[in-house]
Amino acid sequence: MRTLDGLIKHGVQGRRILVRSDLNVPLSKDGKRAVTDDGRIRASLPTLTKLLDHGARVIVTAHLGRPAGEPDPAYSLGPVADRLAQLLGRPVEFALDTVGVSARLLADGLQDGEVLLLENVRFNAGETSKDDAERREFGRCLALLTGGEDDGGAFVEDAFGAVHRKHASVYDVATLLPHYCGDLVRDELEVLRELTGEPKRPYVVVLGGSKVSDKLAVIESLLPKVDKLLVGGGMCFTFLAAQGHEVGESLLEADQIDACRELLGAKSSDGTTKIVLPSDIVVAAEVSDDVPSQVVPADAIPADMVGLDIGPDTVQAFAAELGSARTVFWNGPMGVFEVAQFAAGTKGVAEAVAAVDGLSVVGGGDSAAAVRALGLDVNAFGHISTGGGASLEFLEGKTLPGVAVLEEA
Ligand code: 3PG
Repeated sequence: MRTLDGLIKHGVQGRRILVRSDLNVPLSKDGKRAVTDDGRIRASLPTLTKLLDHGARVIVTAHLGRPAGEPDPAYSLGPVADRLAQLLGRPVEFALDTVGVSARLLADGLQDGEVLLLENVRFNAGETSKDDAERREFGRCLALLTGGEDDGGAFVEDAFGAVHRKHASVYDVATLLPHYCGDLVRDELEVLRELTGEPKRPYVVVLGGSKVSDKLAVIESLLPKVDKLLVGGGMCFTFLAAQGHEVGESLLEADQIDACRELLGAKSSDGTTKIVLPSDIVVAAEVSDDVPSQVVPADAIPADMVGLDIGPDTVQAFAAELGSARTVFWNGPMGVFEVAQFAAGTKGVAEAVAAVDGLSVVGGGDSAAAVRALGLDVNAFGHISTGGGASLEFLEGKTLPGVAVLEEA
């Protein structure tokens, strides 16, 4: 795999380099569209700065959210361009389209050490098209912004969070230009390979988040490899239902109950069940700080209540498992941490993960955002991945198109 340092060594001064970054960050919903967590923008800086410091003319392409393949102001990368400029400490040109007149004019006019951010790449149907020819054609338009290989154009893959997507800006452009692995993708892969190689034991995984259906594949592939799998968040209720418990109004995927029951059968070498479920739950009538909440046993959730966080006994039990672990991977919040009275579970688990004596990896936009939103010290964690789906698919052992294509000549 060719690296960014290799590209720099060849010389990038005066060359137009297309960089795919993952700048998919949360924005405030109050109409101001302010960036509320800039973790992914910060994580993109080292690659961009390295290129700019060496005189490259950098064209950044990225997505925001999931627009419907056409321009939609609600998904504009405008606020991200402003934040990127602040963090880079240099002006960022912003194209009003992705491969149209604005993008082409600004790309042509770039000077050495200048950077251009293109508008949301998903404003173009070709980006995510399942039709290979349509997608490749859009990739060709993106690649042309660099002037093409003969004009010194090259592509740097730095969007770790998107490498599991076979999209034009992630996959096809790499087949059309000399391609290099950015520093973020390199660092992310290095850490995640430690988890899939020979992790130090005990190896404990904590999974949360809302949907169990999104995580079944990763649970199946992780179960034989981990010593314990701690389950919280909305997904724990389908497991609790699989044990025959009433879950009230909590999130439930009834069609996944049988699959969950089967997974609960997995045993550790000491004969205990590998999957550890919450023993108590914080419930309320609705997701709000203005309604009373209470802690109930996980097998006695009232029929008219919603489970919104793991309870204090569960936090203690999970912390004890994490306390003896030497390798930990955590993905997904334990509750609705955005609402103060349902944040304690996520905070408690995050603190226990941060205290791990060994390798601790936080994967997923939501868990990473939770760490920062709850005011925890990001440096206390071994690694905070920028990839949610990407890190899970890597752990599942799936081929990541955006990585596989970098391995091709
Ligand atoms: C993410 O948020 O995980 C990445 O930016 C990928 O976004 P996507 O799931 O919309 O492809």
